[in-house]
Amino acid sequence: MERTLVIVKPDGFARGLTGEVLRRIEAKGYVLDTLQIMTPDRDRLARHYAEHEGKPFYQPLVDFMASGPATFAIVTGQRVIEGFRAIAGATDPSAAAPGSIRGDLGRDWGLAVQQNIVHGSDSPESAEREIGIWFPQA
Ligand code: TYD
Ligand code: MG
Repeated sequence: MERTLVIVKPDGFARGLTGEVLRRIEAKGYVLDTLQIMTPDRDRLARHYAEHEGKPFYQPLVDFMASGPATFAIVTGQRVIEGFRAIAGATDPSAAAPGSIRGDLGRDWGLAVQQNIVHGSDSPESAEREIGIWFPQA
């Protein structure tokens, strides 16, 4: 069974959307394996977002992610990596399809950082790398 790292980011957490995101995950048939609410520290965020270091949105992204509590989950299921990214929708909430989390719930307030509610790993390698950062024992 495949697994992925899902984060309900600080915007989603602050808006009370954790339950809604988890509901959609469970309704699809995926299983919540591990769940933790925490305000992510910058050291681990830098590792998590290492692929984006040097890009113009990198520092605002890390600042935003460190700004408050978020919900971290390991989610398992058949082809869950691709499946959760489909449920999440396109990165830019303005472009995300209706029916997706970002399409239904994401707001475009012209923010420098796209506050797009959720993170989902993009490949099996990313999933294992990211799970190792946030849940080293899992
Ligand atoms: P990315 O990994 O490209 O998107 P995704 O979350 O869909 O895998 O980017 C990571 C996060 O960085 C993204 O969720 C929001 C933020 N971001 C910006 O703020 N501006 C941008 O132009 C991009 C591409 C991402
Ligand atoms: Mg990504």
